[in-house]
Amino acid sequence: MSEERKYCKIPPALLEKYGKKFPFDVFLKIGPTKIIKISHGDEDITETYKRYRAKGVEDVYALEEEFKSFMNFMRKTIQNKFFDESTIDGKVVVLDSCYAVAKEAFQKIGVSSESISLAQDIAKKSMEVLQEQPNIFKFFEKFKENCSEEYMYNVTLTFTISSMMEFVDWSSASIKEKSIMAVMLRDIILLPEHFEEIKNWDGDKKNLSKMALNHPILVAEMLQEDNNNWVSPEVIQIIEQHHERPQGIGFPLGTKHMQISQLSAIHIVADVFTHKLIDCEFNFKEKEKIISDIQGQFYVGTFRKAVDALNDMFGG
Ligand SMILES: [Fe+2]
Repeated sequence: MSEERKYCKIPPALLEKYGKKFPFDVFLKIGPTKIIKISHGDEDITETYKRYRAKGVEDVYALEEEFKSFMNFMRKTIQNKFFDESTIDGKVVVLDSCYAVAKEAFQKIGVSSESISLAQDIAKKSMEVLQEQPNIFKFFEKFKENCSEEYMYNVTLTFTISSMMEFVDWSSASIKEKSIMAVMLRDIILLPEHFEEIKNWDGDKKNLSKMALNHPILVAEMLQEDNNNWVSPEVIQIIEQHHERPQGIGFPLGTKHMQISQLSAIHIVADVFTHKLIDCEFNFKEKEKIISDIQGQFYVGTFRKAVDALNDMFGG
Protein backbone atom coordinates (compact mmCIF):
# COMPACT_ATOMS: atom_id res chain seq x y z
CA MET A 1 0.00 0.00 0.00
CA SER A 2 1.09 3.56 -0.58
CA GLU A 3 3.12 5.06 2.24
CA GLU A 4 1.54 8.53 2.23
CA ARG A 5 -2.07 7.41 2.32
CA LYS A 6 -3.67 5.60 5.19
CA TYR A 7 -6.57 3.26 4.73
CA CYS A 8 -9.25 1.79 6.98
CA LYS A 9 -11.02 -1.48 6.32
CA ILE A 10 -14.66 -1.62 5.26
CA PRO A 11 -16.58 -4.87 5.94
CA PRO A 12 -17.46 -6.41 2.52
CA ALA A 13 -21.05 -7.06 3.72
CA LEU A 14 -21.57 -3.28 4.00
CA LEU A 15 -20.10 -2.59 0.58
CA GLU A 16 -22.31 -5.26 -0.96
CA LYS A 17 -25.42 -3.86 0.67
CA TYR A 18 -24.88 -0.10 0.59
CA GLY A 19 -21.83 0.50 -1.66
CA LYS A 20 -23.90 2.17 -4.37
CA LYS A 21 -24.72 5.00 -1.95
CA PHE A 22 -21.28 5.41 -0.34
CA PRO A 23 -20.35 9.10 -0.48
CA PHE A 24 -16.70 8.27 -1.38
CA ASP A 25 -14.55 5.95 -3.50
CA VAL A 26 -13.29 2.63 -2.21
CA PHE A 27 -9.96 0.89 -2.63
CA LEU A 28 -9.02 -2.75 -3.17
CA LYS A 29 -5.69 -4.31 -2.36
CA ILE A 30 -4.94 -6.49 -5.36
CA GLY A 31 -1.35 -7.44 -4.55
CA PRO A 32 1.18 -7.15 -1.73
CA THR A 33 1.89 -3.52 -2.63
CA LYS A 34 -0.72 -2.72 -5.24
CA ILE A 35 -3.92 -0.91 -4.43
CA ILE A 36 -6.54 0.28 -6.88
CA LYS A 37 -9.31 2.81 -6.60
CA ILE A 38 -12.89 1.94 -7.53
CA SER A 39 -14.83 5.11 -8.29
CA HIS A 40 -18.54 5.61 -8.66
CA GLY A 41 -19.06 5.85 -12.40
CA ASP A 42 -20.88 4.04 -15.13
CA GLU A 43 -20.67 0.82 -13.19
CA ASP A 44 -22.03 0.30 -9.71
CA ILE A 45 -19.00 -0.14 -7.38
CA THR A 46 -20.58 -3.23 -5.84
CA GLU A 47 -20.58 -4.86 -9.30
CA THR A 48 -16.91 -3.99 -9.81
CA TYR A 49 -16.15 -5.39 -6.37
CA LYS A 50 -17.95 -8.67 -7.20
CA ARG A 51 -15.71 -9.17 -10.23
CA TYR A 52 -12.57 -8.69 -8.13
CA ARG A 53 -13.94 -10.86 -5.35
CA ALA A 54 -14.44 -13.69 -7.84
CA LYS A 55 -10.67 -13.44 -8.42
CA GLY A 56 -9.96 -13.74 -4.69
CA VAL A 57 -9.71 -10.06 -3.74
CA GLU A 58 -11.70 -9.56 -0.54
CA ASP A 59 -10.48 -6.64 1.52
CA VAL A 60 -12.05 -3.26 0.85
CA TYR A 61 -10.74 0.04 2.19
CA ALA A 62 -11.63 3.70 2.44
CA LEU A 63 -9.17 6.52 2.93
CA GLU A 64 -8.67 7.28 6.59
CA GLU A 65 -9.87 10.87 6.10
CA GLU A 66 -13.11 9.58 4.61
CA PHE A 67 -13.77 6.98 7.29
CA LYS A 68 -15.58 9.46 9.55
CA SER A 69 -18.05 10.24 6.79
CA PHE A 70 -18.45 6.48 6.32
CA MET A 71 -19.31 6.13 10.04
CA ASN A 72 -21.89 8.91 9.73
CA PHE A 73 -23.30 7.21 6.66
CA MET A 74 -23.68 3.94 8.59
CA ARG A 75 -25.28 5.73 11.55
CA LYS A 76 -27.87 7.30 9.28
CA THR A 77 -28.45 3.90 7.68
CA ILE A 78 -29.16 2.08 10.92
CA GLN A 79 -31.35 4.93 12.16
CA ASN A 80 -33.41 4.95 8.96
CA LYS A 81 -36.94 3.59 9.36
CA PHE A 82 -36.33 1.18 6.48
CA PHE A 83 -33.63 -0.43 8.58
CA ASP A 84 -36.25 -1.26 11.21
CA GLU A 85 -38.38 -2.87 8.57
CA SER A 86 -35.62 -5.14 7.26
CA THR A 87 -35.41 -8.77 8.38
CA ILE A 88 -33.84 -9.70 11.69
CA ASP A 89 -31.04 -11.53 9.81
CA GLY A 90 -30.31 -8.46 7.73
CA LYS A 91 -30.23 -6.18 10.78
CA VAL A 92 -27.94 -8.40 12.85
CA VAL A 93 -25.41 -8.84 10.05
CA VAL A 94 -25.31 -5.06 9.47
CA LEU A 95 -24.92 -4.33 13.22
CA ASP A 96 -22.13 -6.89 13.48
CA SER A 97 -20.35 -5.24 10.52
CA CYS A 98 -20.88 -1.78 12.07
CA TYR A 99 -19.22 -3.03 15.25
CA ALA A 100 -16.21 -4.02 13.11
CA VAL A 101 -16.24 -0.47 11.68
CA ALA A 102 -16.23 1.09 15.16
CA LYS A 103 -13.31 -1.18 16.17
CA GLU A 104 -11.33 -0.26 13.04
CA ALA A 105 -11.91 3.44 13.79
CA PHE A 106 -10.77 3.18 17.41
CA GLN A 107 -7.68 1.21 16.43
CA LYS A 108 -6.61 3.26 13.39
CA ILE A 109 -7.90 6.77 14.10
CA GLY A 110 -8.59 6.85 17.84
CA VAL A 111 -11.66 8.18 19.57
CA SER A 112 -13.90 10.62 17.72
CA SER A 113 -17.45 11.83 18.12
CA GLU A 114 -18.34 9.73 15.05
CA SER A 115 -17.00 6.46 16.49
CA ILE A 116 -18.59 7.10 19.91
CA SER A 117 -21.95 7.90 18.32
CA LEU A 118 -21.71 4.84 16.10
CA ALA A 119 -20.98 2.61 19.14
CA GLN A 120 -23.98 4.17 20.93
CA ASP A 121 -26.26 3.51 17.96
CA ILE A 122 -25.04 -0.08 17.59
CA ALA A 123 -25.72 -0.67 21.30
CA LYS A 124 -29.19 0.86 21.08
CA LYS A 125 -30.21 -0.95 17.90
CA SER A 126 -28.79 -4.26 19.13
CA MET A 127 -30.97 -3.97 22.24
CA GLU A 128 -34.02 -3.25 20.09
CA VAL A 129 -33.29 -6.32 17.97
CA LEU A 130 -32.83 -8.44 21.11
CA GLN A 131 -36.13 -7.28 22.54
CA GLU A 132 -37.85 -8.69 19.45
CA GLN A 133 -36.30 -12.09 20.26
CA PRO A 134 -38.15 -14.22 22.79
CA ASN A 135 -35.19 -16.55 23.36
CA ILE A 136 -31.55 -15.47 23.69
CA PHE A 137 -30.32 -19.04 23.11
CA LYS A 138 -32.12 -19.34 19.78
CA PHE A 139 -30.85 -15.90 18.84
CA PHE A 140 -27.27 -16.90 19.66
CA GLU A 141 -27.57 -20.22 17.78
CA LYS A 142 -28.99 -18.53 14.74
CA PHE A 143 -26.33 -15.87 14.36
CA LYS A 144 -23.15 -17.32 15.81
CA GLU A 145 -22.03 -18.65 12.41
CA ASN A 146 -22.63 -15.40 10.54
CA CYS A 147 -21.43 -12.86 13.08
CA SER A 148 -18.16 -12.24 14.86
CA GLU A 149 -17.72 -14.10 18.12
CA GLU A 150 -17.04 -10.78 19.82
CA TYR A 151 -20.23 -9.08 18.68
CA MET A 152 -22.34 -12.12 19.61
CA TYR A 153 -20.69 -12.25 23.02
CA ASN A 154 -21.31 -8.55 23.60
CA VAL A 155 -24.96 -8.84 22.67
CA THR A 156 -25.44 -11.84 24.98
CA LEU A 157 -23.69 -10.04 27.83
CA THR A 158 -25.83 -6.96 27.18
CA PHE A 159 -28.90 -9.18 27.48
CA THR A 160 -27.66 -10.66 30.80
CA ILE A 161 -26.86 -7.24 32.29
CA SER A 162 -30.18 -5.71 31.23
CA SER A 163 -32.06 -8.69 32.66
CA MET A 164 -30.17 -8.47 35.97
CA MET A 165 -30.88 -4.74 36.13
CA GLU A 166 -34.59 -5.52 36.33
CA PHE A 167 -33.89 -6.88 39.81
CA VAL A 168 -31.75 -4.00 41.09
CA ASP A 169 -33.63 -1.23 42.89
CA TRP A 170 -31.22 1.55 41.84
CA SER A 171 -31.47 0.69 38.14
CA SER A 172 -32.78 3.19 35.56
CA ALA A 173 -32.92 3.53 31.79
CA SER A 174 -29.85 5.76 31.89
CA ILE A 175 -27.83 3.29 34.02
CA LYS A 176 -28.80 0.48 31.64
CA GLU A 177 -27.65 2.56 28.70
CA LYS A 178 -24.30 3.26 30.38
CA SER A 179 -23.78 -0.44 31.10
CA ILE A 180 -24.46 -1.35 27.49
CA MET A 181 -22.07 1.33 26.25
CA ALA A 182 -19.36 -0.08 28.54
CA VAL A 183 -19.88 -3.53 27.01
CA MET A 184 -19.50 -2.12 23.49
CA LEU A 185 -16.33 -0.20 24.30
CA ARG A 186 -14.41 -2.19 26.91
CA ASP A 187 -12.46 -4.43 24.49
CA ILE A 188 -12.60 -2.23 21.42
CA ILE A 189 -8.79 -2.20 20.94
CA LEU A 190 -8.31 -5.97 21.36
CA LEU A 191 -7.56 -8.46 18.57
CA PRO A 192 -8.75 -12.12 18.48
CA GLU A 193 -5.41 -13.34 19.89
CA HIS A 194 -5.87 -11.16 22.99
CA PHE A 195 -9.28 -12.70 23.71
CA GLU A 196 -7.72 -16.15 23.41
CA GLU A 197 -4.95 -15.14 25.80
CA ILE A 198 -7.42 -13.82 28.40
CA LYS A 199 -9.63 -16.90 28.04
CA ASN A 200 -6.68 -19.20 28.78
CA TRP A 201 -5.12 -17.00 31.47
CA ASP A 202 -3.53 -18.95 34.34
CA GLY A 203 -3.97 -16.15 36.90
CA ASP A 204 -0.37 -14.88 36.71
CA LYS A 205 -0.28 -11.29 35.40
CA LYS A 206 3.26 -11.83 34.09
CA ASN A 207 1.87 -14.28 31.55
CA LEU A 208 -0.38 -11.71 29.87
CA SER A 209 0.84 -9.52 26.99
CA LYS A 210 0.90 -5.78 27.71
CA MET A 211 -2.16 -5.20 25.55
CA ALA A 212 -4.24 -7.95 27.14
CA LEU A 213 -3.18 -6.92 30.65
CA ASN A 214 -3.60 -3.17 30.29
CA HIS A 215 -6.54 -2.82 27.88
CA PRO A 216 -9.01 -1.76 30.61
CA ILE A 217 -6.76 1.21 31.46
CA LEU A 218 -5.76 1.93 27.86
CA VAL A 219 -9.38 2.11 26.67
CA ALA A 220 -10.32 4.26 29.68
CA GLU A 221 -7.40 6.61 28.87
CA MET A 222 -8.40 6.86 25.22
CA LEU A 223 -11.89 7.88 26.29
CA GLN A 224 -10.53 10.66 28.52
CA GLU A 225 -7.63 11.87 26.36
CA ASP A 226 -7.00 15.63 26.14
CA ASN A 227 -9.58 16.24 28.86
CA ASN A 228 -12.33 14.94 26.64
CA ASN A 229 -15.17 13.18 28.34
CA TRP A 230 -16.45 11.02 25.56
CA VAL A 231 -18.44 8.87 27.95
CA SER A 232 -19.68 9.21 31.54
CA PRO A 233 -17.48 8.44 34.60
CA GLU A 234 -19.59 5.32 35.30
CA VAL A 235 -18.77 3.90 31.87
CA ILE A 236 -15.06 4.64 32.45
CA GLN A 237 -15.16 2.88 35.81
CA ILE A 238 -16.84 -0.26 34.44
CA ILE A 239 -14.24 -0.41 31.64
CA GLU A 240 -11.36 0.02 34.12
CA GLN A 241 -12.72 -2.67 36.45
CA HIS A 242 -14.20 -5.26 34.11
CA HIS A 243 -11.42 -7.83 34.70
CA GLU A 244 -11.01 -7.19 38.43
CA ARG A 245 -12.19 -9.74 40.97
CA PRO A 246 -13.48 -9.29 44.56
CA GLN A 247 -10.45 -10.94 46.19
CA GLY A 248 -7.99 -8.75 44.28
CA ILE A 249 -6.91 -11.56 41.93
CA GLY A 250 -8.08 -9.86 38.73
CA PHE A 251 -6.21 -7.46 36.44
CA PRO A 252 -4.73 -4.98 35.66
CA LEU A 253 -4.64 -3.46 39.16
CA GLY A 254 -5.77 -6.29 41.44
CA THR A 255 -8.43 -3.96 42.89
CA LYS A 256 -10.28 -5.48 45.85
CA HIS A 257 -14.05 -5.54 46.30
CA MET A 258 -14.23 -2.44 48.52
CA GLN A 259 -13.04 -0.33 45.58
CA ILE A 260 -15.22 -2.02 42.96
CA SER A 261 -18.47 -0.16 42.24
CA GLN A 262 -21.93 -1.75 42.39
CA LEU A 263 -22.32 -1.26 38.67
CA SER A 264 -18.92 -2.86 37.93
CA ALA A 265 -19.84 -5.76 40.24
CA ILE A 266 -23.01 -6.42 38.18
CA HIS A 267 -20.92 -6.25 35.02
CA ILE A 268 -18.24 -8.66 36.35
CA VAL A 269 -20.76 -11.23 37.62
CA ALA A 270 -22.79 -11.01 34.38
CA ASP A 271 -19.57 -11.48 32.39
CA VAL A 272 -18.53 -14.66 34.23
CA PHE A 273 -22.10 -15.97 34.00
CA THR A 274 -22.34 -15.29 30.24
CA HIS A 275 -19.04 -17.10 29.61
CA LYS A 276 -20.32 -20.13 31.52
CA LEU A 277 -23.66 -20.05 29.73
CA ILE A 278 -22.01 -19.99 26.31
CA ASP A 279 -19.45 -22.65 27.33
CA CYS A 280 -22.24 -25.08 28.28
CA GLU A 281 -24.17 -24.13 25.10
CA PHE A 282 -27.09 -22.71 27.08
CA ASN A 283 -27.77 -26.09 28.68
CA PHE A 284 -30.16 -25.08 31.43
CA LYS A 285 -29.60 -28.40 33.21
CA GLU A 286 -26.30 -26.80 34.27
CA LYS A 287 -28.21 -23.99 36.00
CA GLU A 288 -27.60 -25.16 39.58
CA LYS A 289 -23.91 -25.73 38.98
CA ILE A 290 -23.39 -22.35 37.29
CA ILE A 291 -25.17 -20.50 40.10
CA SER A 292 -23.29 -22.34 42.84
CA ASP A 293 -19.91 -21.75 41.08
CA ILE A 294 -20.73 -18.04 40.92
CA GLN A 295 -21.90 -17.91 44.54
CA GLY A 296 -18.61 -19.55 45.56
CA GLN A 297 -16.61 -16.95 43.66
CA PHE A 298 -18.55 -13.77 44.46
CA TYR A 299 -19.71 -13.65 48.06
CA VAL A 300 -18.37 -10.39 49.46
CA GLY A 301 -19.74 -6.85 49.68
CA THR A 302 -21.47 -5.46 46.62
CA PHE A 303 -20.85 -8.72 44.77
CA ARG A 304 -23.41 -10.47 46.98
CA LYS A 305 -26.06 -8.06 45.69
CA ALA A 306 -25.01 -8.69 42.11
CA VAL A 307 -25.32 -12.46 42.65
CA ASP A 308 -28.77 -11.89 44.21
CA ALA A 309 -29.85 -10.08 41.05
CA LEU A 310 -28.50 -12.96 38.96
CA ASN A 311 -30.34 -15.47 41.13
CA ASP A 312 -33.60 -13.52 40.85
CA MET A 313 -33.17 -13.34 37.10
CA PHE A 314 -31.89 -16.86 36.37
CA GLY A 315 -32.49 -18.96 39.46
CA GLY A 316 -36.12 -18.03 39.87
FE1 LIG B 1 -11.66 -7.05 28.46
